[in-house]
Amino acid sequence: MSKVIVITSGKGGVGKTTTAINLAAAMKYFGRDVLIIDGNLSTPNVGLHLNSPEVPINLNHVLRGKAEPFEAVYEHESGIKIMPSSLSVKELKRTRPERMKNFKKDFKKLSENIIVDSSAGLGYEAVCAIELADELIIVTNPEMPAVTDALKAVKIAEEMKKPVRGIIVTRVRKDGVELEPEVVKEMLEAPILGMVPEDMAVKKSVRSKGAVVQLHPKSNAARAYKEIAAKILNVPYDSNKDREGFFERFSDWLGLR
Ligand SMILES: Nc1ncnc2c1ncn2[C@@H]1O[C@H](COP(=O)(O)OP(=O)(O)OP(=O)(O)O)[C@@H](O)[C@H]1O
Ligand SMILES: [Mg+2]
Repeated sequence: MSKVIVITSGKGGVGKTTTAINLAAAMKYFGRDVLIIDGNLSTPNVGLHLNSPEVPINLNHVLRGKAEPFEAVYEHESGIKIMPSSLSVKELKRTRPERMKNFKKDFKKLSENIIVDSSAGLGYEAVCAIELADELIIVTNPEMPAVTDALKAVKIAEEMKKPVRGIIVTRVRKDGVELEPEVVKEMLEAPILGMVPEDMAVKKSVRSKGAVVQLHPKSNAARAYKEIAAKILNVPYDSNKDREGFFERFSDWLGLR
């Protein structure tokens, strides 16, 4: 049975798109078919992250009835399928986000696992993306403003009767200043699916237009995303055994990778 997981957060800029892309890449790593839909219609980023910024047919065309959903699906070199949305402001003005839910059945025919990235905030557009969900994943950072906004997302999910699969805390630095995982868990009253550390490898991957799971598969962030995907898919994965070996670390140190 195909499942739609929507990635939301409340606060913007916490790591939703990074999470959508890397959960997809991690699912691919475990041999699953996966499609990312860019439900962030106002400021779409998935295409930019995965090297297909503007494509001839995108989600906006589907929502306007100008194309069939399968026509807006592209395959990234990693094998992840993506349905980008348009970068054009003119196109955005013509797009009605509430139409997304009408296509849920059609989207589900396109892949076994569907991950929907959504826009910042919890306004109309974000809520329209949430309407698509079978399950929600809420992304936050270990800081009070982000967790407070994530709590709003949890409440909206309750009101909309959408189950929250869990919380992903990203950009974790363990600097002694940020909120402890236990505090985040208590505040949000939802299970923590995983913690993703602050990792330069994420930034390097954005620059190289790929997922960290694919480009730096043994980095701390990549292993954290694989661990989360393994939990979601219920497959075994030991992140300790997936660490970089001595020679990989040495070439990194020499700047050879
Ligand atoms: N684990 C990480 N380590 C380092 N940088 C990260 C990590 N996760 C995300 N980032 C960086 O944080 C910034 C915001 O990430 P991202 O674009 O995924 O957030 P977002 O929630 O999708 O933002 P928006 O709400 O604007 O759509 C990006 O520059 C990204 O590279
Ligand atoms: Mg984003």
